[in-house]
Amino acid sequence: MLFRQTARSAAALFGFLFCLALAAQAQTASVKLPNVTILATGGTIAGTGATSTTTVGYTAATVGVQALIQAVPEMTKIANVSGEQVFQIASENMGNEHWLTLAKRVNTLLAQSNVDGIVITHGTDTLEETAYFLNLVVKSKKPVVLVGSMRPSTAMSADGPANLYNAVLLAGSQDAVGRGVLVVLNDQINGARDVSKTNTTSLDTFKTTELGMLGYIVGGKPFFYRATTRKHTVDTEFDVMNLSVLPQVEVAYAHANVGPVAIDALVASGAKGLVHAGVGDGSLPAKVRPALSAARKKGVLIVRSSRVGQGIVARNGEANDDELDFVVGDNLSPQKARILLMLALTKTTNTRDIQKMFWTY
Ligand code: SIN
Repeated sequence: MLFRQTARSAAALFGFLFCLALAAQAQTASVKLPNVTILATGGTIAGTGATSTTTVGYTAATVGVQALIQAVPEMTKIANVSGEQVFQIASENMGNEHWLTLAKRVNTLLAQSNVDGIVITHGTDTLEETAYFLNLVVKSKKPVVLVGSMRPSTAMSADGPANLYNAVLLAGSQDAVGRGVLVVLNDQINGARDVSKTNTTSLDTFKTTELGMLGYIVGGKPFFYRATTRKHTVDTEFDVMNLSVLPQVEVAYAHANVGPVAIDALVASGAKGLVHAGVGDGSLPAKVRPALSAARKKGVLIVRSSRVGQGIVARNGEANDDELDFVVGDNLSPQKARILLMLALTKTTNTRDIQKMFWTY
């Protein structure tokens, strides 16, 4: 009797445990991980130094994408991660041809139903430029996240692995869909248009200073608080899929009483557009004004920008833009104004239309 009761209890317990195991299995099967592709381009995140205390004077762009992925096995719990080595360069050498190659690859991958998001590992020095370029030419709402690190992979407390984990998390998140190209470092999410590197060596360097970051990553989850009001990705008029070159656009940097030498040289080199990083509200020193005016008369598009780093350059404020037939760069940094002007020149040379683009994107 006792034996039969014990056998019945054991059978019931076994059945219960079996059901629990089945339920757990079913739950695991129903959690579908997003497919995230990492496109590696080099930078400090792929850098190596001589010792664990080497945080300057290291070599950028030496570690391959598979090694970057293997260094963060935790990523396999949040996404199906694959990797491609697109380039292996320090980001100061990121040229227009690299941007076009990268943009085409991103668009091709995002058009595939088995890709949910893309992470681009990148040197931090020009990361904001690549991010803004892609923000204007990617034709998908799926997340595209740029990530870098300030310390090489060999440094003690290297920031690359955690940044990469966060980038994969973000690229696989539904919360990041439709927000334009994003930048994540140091647990902070910034938008491509407005973010800048603000400190040469600090981990806390990527900032959207006056307008504010978009959100944070905390406890393995993105939290968004704002969105850009400027058009991006699927809502822009730019299409680079059939382009193999971009028009030459240069930046001329102003200082007190600067002369026309740099401007004249840039025009002579064949520039189709010039961004003037003026002082204050885009002011033009006396010797610069005639040089820029002469360049415009030769057909070079002129964007009046500012080296200050914050604020709008007011149209017809410090110069009569209508009379000079100049464009003002809104609040874009000179390096981002250069990118928009290059893309604008692929569509038109009409200054009014280009001015509208600067107020739209
Ligand atoms: C680079 O931009 O490639 C080097 C510096 C960095 O990634 O922080």
